[in-house]
Amino acid sequence: MGAGAREHALVQALNRSPRMPEVLCAPGNAGIGAEARILDVAAEDIDGLVRTSRDEEVDVVVVGPEAPLVAGLTDALAAGGVRCFGPTAAAARLEGSKAFCKEIMDAAGVPTARYEVVSDPAEALEAIDGYPAVLKADGLAAGKGVTVAADEAQAREAVRRLLIDHEFGTERVVIEEHLVGEELSLLALCDGEVALPLASAQDYKRIFDGDEGPNTGGMGSYSPVPGVDADRAAELTWAVHQPVLDELAQRGITFRGVLYAGLMMTATGPKVLEFNVRFGDPETQAILPRLRSDLLELIDKAMVPGALSGVSLAWTPETAVTVVLASAGYPESSSRGDVISGLEAVPSDVYVTHAGTARGQNGSIVTAGGRVLSVTGLGPTAADARAAAYAAADMVEFEGRQLRRDIAHLK
Ligand code: AMP
Ligand code: GLY
Repeated sequence: MGAGAREHALVQALNRSPRMPEVLCAPGNAGIGAEARILDVAAEDIDGLVRTSRDEEVDVVVVGPEAPLVAGLTDALAAGGVRCFGPTAAAARLEGSKAFCKEIMDAAGVPTARYEVVSDPAEALEAIDGYPAVLKADGLAAGKGVTVAADEAQAREAVRRLLIDHEFGTERVVIEEHLVGEELSLLALCDGEVALPLASAQDYKRIFDGDEGPNTGGMGSYSPVPGVDADRAAELTWAVHQPVLDELAQRGITFRGVLYAGLMMTATGPKVLEFNVRFGDPETQAILPRLRSDLLELIDKAMVPGALSGVSLAWTPETAVTVVLASAGYPESSSRGDVISGLEAVPSDVYVTHAGTARGQNGSIVTAGGRVLSVTGLGPTAADARAAAYAAADMVEFEGRQLRRDIAHLK
């Protein structure tokens, strides 16, 4: 369920299942429509999703975006007798409230930045003990709620936006110690008791090469990250994901779905920047093409507490590199209706997943959003995978196309 390239990658992975499921997607996009049956129900329409899932006798719903999870989609589906691979609203608060997330990490002994939660603007400025300082809106903010303030003027501006203008509708901010290091995304499949790590990945959040310019929904990714093999991922999961699952379970909250840890690998060890309660975008586009195990079987297992215990995942040893193609003006705005050409020239071993696309006239595909497509290449080395991804990305053209040239340019 969802409409982005992440959901397209999920559809493709489910279609590869030897169980040959019929895959349905609500609401999907032009690319997903070629690989799944589209259900015309919006991602926010919880009642409609429950009704349609029942009418279609859906076996299990796999949720892409966070907002419906935080709003209680999983709970509503369960009440309607439909299985859902995704956390309940109570568990999704890990992403829905940064303050709750911090409290759980503290209680679970998970390493994270020092912090304070404040609701008064003056107190917020007092809580800052040096620059750069990190200020985070307490609620969902579509990746835009974090400010790294270089000085007091920037901090005052952020406090004004968050606590006086209430730009994200939240009453509280988390003021956090600024951490330095490489970022790492580590996603784990969770069955409520056991966290099973997927392959490591890294994403590129800023619009321009060299991590310049404003933050976006993600301009590229790669997997695996050098130095973070399956053993290291298991160690990290043991220190990060498993204690969170255990802490939630103690509070009577079952976490089922994907728990995504955004980590900063600091000089004093890994620390959690945030948890998301779903597959990452664009990490998923790089991770799933490497998965040799049956995703559907894994999701089925995750519906039973403890069933993921002892499961080991099979991966291709190749590296995957995902390049995102965005439309003109992104991230401030987006351009719609530009005809996309060259898709048919992309080799069949490259994975193309659609985000903001729609059907235009005469069967054409046109842009319909900020991030338009993801292109994932695989290869024996990161350099090979990069070459495959960029060769294919350059075959796909549309007016004003933007892409970063430095994805997975590993030092
Ligand atoms: P979040 O949504 O909390 O992951 O924050 C979004 C981005 O802000 C992260 O991917 C980091 O690049 C940056 N960030 C968040 N928290 C910190 C921190 N404590 N120190 C430095 N950078 C941070
Ligand atoms: N890749 C960042 C996210 O999915 O939130």
